[in-house]
Amino acid sequence: MESYYQNHQLPHPVLPALPPLELLKGQTALVTGANSGIGRAIAIALGRAGADVVINYVAAPEEAERVAEEIRLSGRRAIIARADVSNEAEVQAMFAKAVEELGTVDIFVNNAGLQKDAPFHEMTTAQWDTVMNVNLRGAFLCSREAVREFLRRGVRPDVSVAAGKIIFISSVHEVIPWAGHVNYAASKGGLMLLMKSLAQEVAEKRIRVNSIAPGAIRTPINTGAWQTPEAYTELMKLIPYKRIGEVEEIGRAAVWLASDFTDYMVGSTIFIDGGMTLYPGFETGG
Ligand code: BGC
Repeated sequence: MESYYQNHQLPHPVLPALPPLELLKGQTALVTGANSGIGRAIAIALGRAGADVVINYVAAPEEAERVAEEIRLSGRRAIIARADVSNEAEVQAMFAKAVEELGTVDIFVNNAGLQKDAPFHEMTTAQWDTVMNVNLRGAFLCSREAVREFLRRGVRPDVSVAAGKIIFISSVHEVIPWAGHVNYAASKGGLMLLMKSLAQEVAEKRIRVNSIAPGAIRTPINTGAWQTPEAYTELMKLIPYKRIGEVEEIGRAAVWLASDFTDYMVGSTIFIDGGMTLYPGFETGG
């Protein structure tokens, strides 16, 4: 049965402006891969919500510096910090720099991630390792430094009731299998149980660990999926809400998840995906 809704092209909405609520005032956030895409939007949103921000990047310092400038415009402190998240020494140096220059880290957003797609029988060891190293080993190395800092500092009741917050930027592919992207889906599936196991382990220390799982968001990682009208039409078959997501929508969720408004949220994944995880084939089938 063809539904009424499927015959309509819904206009792309203009998102309402974020109210100037300083939910994160007095806190410091470190965001990995914050020079572009979702990481950039999260860094800017956290800054607008009152946090000082460390902008991690691995290449393109000029992009990272532009993000820092934008955050400074909203009156917050912002520094850039180069580190390959899969390199232990560089990660430790980055956290040391954050603590030295901004005092501590209250919020850690594990955003850095990449795809190296290939049919499974052609996938090289390098493609497998690069994705695992950045997406999963990087998450381990960075969140371990974050937890160490949270434990060292403890709760500062003047800024937050929690000792620290970790937000993993996962993907719908932590639950949706993805042919041709086996390394990526495996890394995100791994990230899901890293998140839940860590959340369980550190909850008693008042450290909250959660994930945001974006669906198709308009970023450089997936231009092939939305840049041409044909690709966009194909993509819409996977999205009940019939539009692509925007990076700001992930930034807003990150602010909320980092704030005390979600203090009882521990070990959860928030899917922001226009319904991509709702088995869209069943809109008409079944
Ligand atoms: C991937 C994108 C993809 C989206 C939905 C994301 O995790 O990085 O390339 O468009 O999932 O499939």
